[in-house]
Amino acid sequence: MDGTAAELLARADALAAVSEEPGRLTRRFATEALGRAGELVAGWMEEAGLAVRRDAAGNVLGRLGDPEEPPLVLGSHLDTVPDAGRFDGPLGVLAGIAVAGRVQARGLAPSLEVAAFADEEGARFGVPYLGSAAYAGVFEPAWLELVDDEGVTVAEAVRAAGGDPDGLVDVPSPVLAGYLEAHIEQGPVLEAEDLPVGIVSAIAGQTRAQVTLEGRAAHAGTTPMRARRDALAAASEIVLAVERCALDAEGLVATVGMLDVEPGATNVVPGRARLSVDVRHADDDELGRGVAAIRRAVDAIASARGVEHAWVTRQAMPAVEMASTLRLRLASAVSALGHEIRSLPSGAGHDAVVLSRVCPAAMLFVRCAGGISHDPRESVGEGDVAVALDVLERVVAPG
Ligand code: HGY
Ligand code: MN
Ligand code: MN
Repeated sequence: MDGTAAELLARADALAAVSEEPGRLTRRFATEALGRAGELVAGWMEEAGLAVRRDAAGNVLGRLGDPEEPPLVLGSHLDTVPDAGRFDGPLGVLAGIAVAGRVQARGLAPSLEVAAFADEEGARFGVPYLGSAAYAGVFEPAWLELVDDEGVTVAEAVRAAGGDPDGLVDVPSPVLAGYLEAHIEQGPVLEAEDLPVGIVSAIAGQTRAQVTLEGRAAHAGTTPMRARRDALAAASEIVLAVERCALDAEGLVATVGMLDVEPGATNVVPGRARLSVDVRHADDDELGRGVAAIRRAVDAIASARGVEHAWVTRQAMPAVEMASTLRLRLASAVSALGHEIRSLPSGAGHDAVVLSRVCPAAMLFVRCAGGISHDPRESVGEGDVAVALDVLERVVAPG
């Protein structure tokens, strides 16, 4: 290993080939593909001279330096959304491994831990951050009973993947010096301002919910239009209402990303629909107002259509400020390397949200082409990755 940006990009390509599905990158929590990706990363961690272990959740961890000294953690997530890009998550993991190798090549062995988290997206069980929550000792026991589309619980999935569900809960939080996550920006700001890296000021708050609509399945040919309780028609009106609420509120984003329809036949009026709602804002009060407006719209549409409905909040995370101590260390490294210091908020959630509950956490954004993410077109430049590695190395081992 040489710890270069070129090596990191080659490894990102190798990781991208490890998928649950042929022809596109999908790697969800506690799947066989995630296990294979963990094996690949564990090998690179060993090559970088790290002591590797896997925790009960399947997080892969590589330790360097004095085990008695609280480590600085460099990491991100190995899981992906369906049909993902190569860098959302893996960039931060691979950067941590590269930096760990580089500081040792200088004869240094700072107290460091590289973390490859097993679930950040929540793509399988609907609740994000299961991996970093287990690592940080803040995993909620109720999450063990979450089920995926096949009815498999988190506990069953973790056990099937060789993990230990009992080891996820009631574990003490680790003593950490801090957490640093390199991540693609997933937005257009750095590219628009021609900057290689940026320092995250805060991470937007987010609420994720599931709405279930119970209408009445009926024959598509014999049921008069005014006698229907069409769950999909109600869901469709709700999708547009969610969009309207966000368009009407400055800085609010709201998305319906999943919609299931039952029974799902051309000649049956849909009796049931389930949709996801993802709402975000940098300000918690505005987020709360946005969620309340959306819930009022759901109530009004469902009752006007005679459709029963249930709103289940899957997760509500407040906005999180990044730690000023670590942000300052990032800023002095960025400027020492001759680059402009640009602070910017993150509309996307990250494992840093969870780690910030147990230690100072900060993030370094890397410019990505067109700000594209959660899509195979995700891409970063080798030069920008090189800058990010230099910045991280300076923070880890100044001088
Ligand atoms: O959804 C997010 O913000 C992140 O990609 N998990
Ligand atoms: Mn991510
Ligand atoms: Mn993501």
